[in-house]
Amino acid sequence: MFIGIDLGTSSVKMILVDHEQNIIATSNSSLTVQNPKDGYSEQNPKEWIDATFECFEGLKSKKPKEFSEIISIGISGHMHGATLIDEKGSVIRPCILWNDTRSYEECLEYENQSFDVRSLSGNIAMPGFTAPKINWIKKYENEYFNKIFKVLLPKDYLRFYLTGEYYSEMSDASGTLWLDVKERKWSDKLLSCSFLEQKHMPTLVEGNQETGILKNKFKDKFQFKRTVKVVGGAGDNAAAATGMGITDPNQSFISLGTSGVFFTPTSNYLSNTGDAVHSFCHCLPNKWHLMSVMLSASNCLDWICSVTKTSIENSLENVESFYSNNVSVQNAPFFLPYLSGERTPHNDPHIRGSFHSIKTTTDATNLQYAVIEGVSFGILDGVNSILKVNNDFENIFMVGGGSKSSFWIGFLASLLNRKLSVCRQSEFGAALGVARLALTSSNFVFSTSHLL
Ligand code: XUL
Repeated sequence: MFIGIDLGTSSVKMILVDHEQNIIATSNSSLTVQNPKDGYSEQNPKEWIDATFECFEGLKSKKPKEFSEIISIGISGHMHGATLIDEKGSVIRPCILWNDTRSYEECLEYENQSFDVRSLSGNIAMPGFTAPKINWIKKYENEYFNKIFKVLLPKDYLRFYLTGEYYSEMSDASGTLWLDVKERKWSDKLLSCSFLEQKHMPTLVEGNQETGILKNKFKDKFQFKRTVKVVGGAGDNAAAATGMGITDPNQSFISLGTSGVFFTPTSNYLSNTGDAVHSFCHCLPNKWHLMSVMLSASNCLDWICSVTKTSIENSLENVESFYSNNVSVQNAPFFLPYLSGERTPHNDPHIRGSFHSIKTTTDATNLQYAVIEGVSFGILDGVNSILKVNNDFENIFMVGGGSKSSFWIGFLASLLNRKLSVCRQSEFGAALGVARLALTSSNFVFSTSHLL
């Protein structure tokens, strides 16, 4: 038996998986996000621990016998968050999250070096990434900066709590900006841009390698029969890809969730910093991936539906019949989907959304159509940014809330001129991905095909 833990931004999700990769039980527990100022987004790591233990209890109560037979655990989590740990292993301040945009100035400072930061890291310094958050802390909260013993990503803090060990793995570490993504190792030069050294970093492994064992007190608390291993795991996107079996070049997926992601594995290191493409290690050895990220995707549809007081289902139905009329479509307004800034391809945390060509006849359905069209063009921008350096993918799998709309899928397929297949995937996709990594580390066959 294996456990996959996914530390998401809004909840911890956990699954219990057998040797055949069947999901035996699931549980989840909500988390809150604090926004102390505009553009700030923080979380208290204690909530991650409480939610994780609630999920353990949830699995135990559903399948006590199977739960007691756990061999290994994989952990996935939201990427980029800066969790600062002092010498005693205590958390110094709330974790600054991936969607926090306070560190724009610090991105410019981070990149202002005597060497080319972008070519070494393979990525652009964006406020979402970990490094500029530390530069912000050094500037505005120097007393906290001085206490730093380790900087951990959210899931790696959870690992530390469960095992007492400081480890990270390549996929999540890629989003710090301190990793030499090509060589898969921490870079002294990049760390120095944040006034840090290797000693502040956890040890790096691949996602399927062991990183320690569950502390005895937790083994006893949950009455696990064996020593429970914890493996490296993955950042949430690499984990979700692994859950879908997307680990090889030629494969790809689009996630139409709150944010919009296009993800495709590569067999070597490639980058396109000019278009703010994310160039990261995948969570398995000798594999990398390229990723475009738009910060607001389905989120834009949620927003227009709440402004126009229409349910998402009704709005999609209205838009579908609206789309059957060519003249209406040609006269529809345009929407730019940058409600919370944009990463790929614009790298601009301050850019905002807008409607164009609205007139006295523009109604709610026109606006809803414009939103779907605008978000779809945003996805196309992402795919095109990746195509500039890699065209080694054909069919694309669709996941996320937006992929439930056959109208939206059809619209995107014609825009991208690709075959899109909807993936039978649940909200537990990332948890499944890391449960599989736990499974491979225990020498069980890693077959993904039956899940697609
Ligand atoms: C990826 C990214 C998000 C977070 C939260 O670069 O910022 O996908 O991992 O899900």
